[in-house]
Amino acid sequence: MTPESESLDLAVQDHPAGRRELTGNRSFLADVRQRGVRGGDVSELFHENTKLDRRYLNRSAVTTDALPDGFAVVEHDYHGCESVSLPDPEAVDGDLGALLDRRRSVRDYSDRPVTKRTLGTLLGHAMGPTAERAAEPYDETFRPYPSAGGLYPVEVYPVVVNGDGVADGVYYYSVRDHALRVLDDGDEALAGFTDAFMDADFSAGIAADSAVTFVLTGSFPRIKAKYGPTGYRFALLEAGHLAQTLLLVAAALGLGGVPVGSYLGDLDEFLGVDGVDESALYTVPVGHPETHE
Ligand SMILES: Cc1cc2nc3c(=O)[nH]c(=O)nc-3n(C[C@H](O)[C@H](O)[C@H](O)COP(=O)(O)O)c2cc1C
Repeated sequence: MTPESESLDLAVQDHPAGRRELTGNRSFLADVRQRGVRGGDVSELFHENTKLDRRYLNRSAVTTDALPDGFAVVEHDYHGCESVSLPDPEAVDGDLGALLDRRRSVRDYSDRPVTKRTLGTLLGHAMGPTAERAAEPYDETFRPYPSAGGLYPVEVYPVVVNGDGVADGVYYYSVRDHALRVLDDGDEALAGFTDAFMDADFSAGIAADSAVTFVLTGSFPRIKAKYGPTGYRFALLEAGHLAQTLLLVAAALGLGGVPVGSYLGDLDEFLGVDGVDESALYTVPVGHPETHE
């Protein structure tokens, strides 16, 4: 369908939560749909160029053992930064069926802060190591969510907005150490954070109100080293797995959260990632649900 023939009847969309119209006006939609590269539609280019192809089967069959370069490019783990160890995760019990029924997006949070223990439980259960297997040149570590080739290209940066026992600031979660690397916990650490969301009083408000917002980034060279451009597709899929796991653990702890896609490219700058080899893919604000009497 060409942009000219496309009906723009969807110009006015109700937000699924029935609260706001997020998609803008007719010309905004037309612009978004026509956004392209070299005359093409970016989504078609993406889709076409990230399909696995028989010609590249040998490439995608490269084993993890053959990928030290890919790992080396992105396995930074912020080793030089101060580390804050997290407590081991507390047991979360719960009936999976009931949890799935209960999970709903929560966008209003109380003033109750997030503790180090809760961060340890949330992050540990959502993405902490679950198993190890001896391999060369690296032992393989597995996590609670699936990952193409076990390469785990998705990284998590917890932005603590309202912490108790952990300073408000920007952190990186080191899975291997179950610790937070302190990227910035100074007075100005959160300056510019909410400006990196699209809607001044909606998605920005959710992040500002949260106790912690998890920013998920993709470290693309790690996964592209094995899968080429298809690796980008796999990183997006993996971000969805991880976000859902985080949300379910949050629900099991009596917390509320929502996946927020309406952030801007500015979020990369805020985190200090380059936006090319590593870039924000998804955000998940979490907090204690506001109870409306
Ligand atoms: C990819 C994606 C992006 C989303 N982005 C936003 C967002 O920017 N702001 C928001 O309030 N909700 C966002 N949501 C949450 C949806 O609005 C919500 O999941 C949907 O209304 C269904 O409601 P439920 O999560 O309570 O079941 C997003 C959901 C997904 C899957």
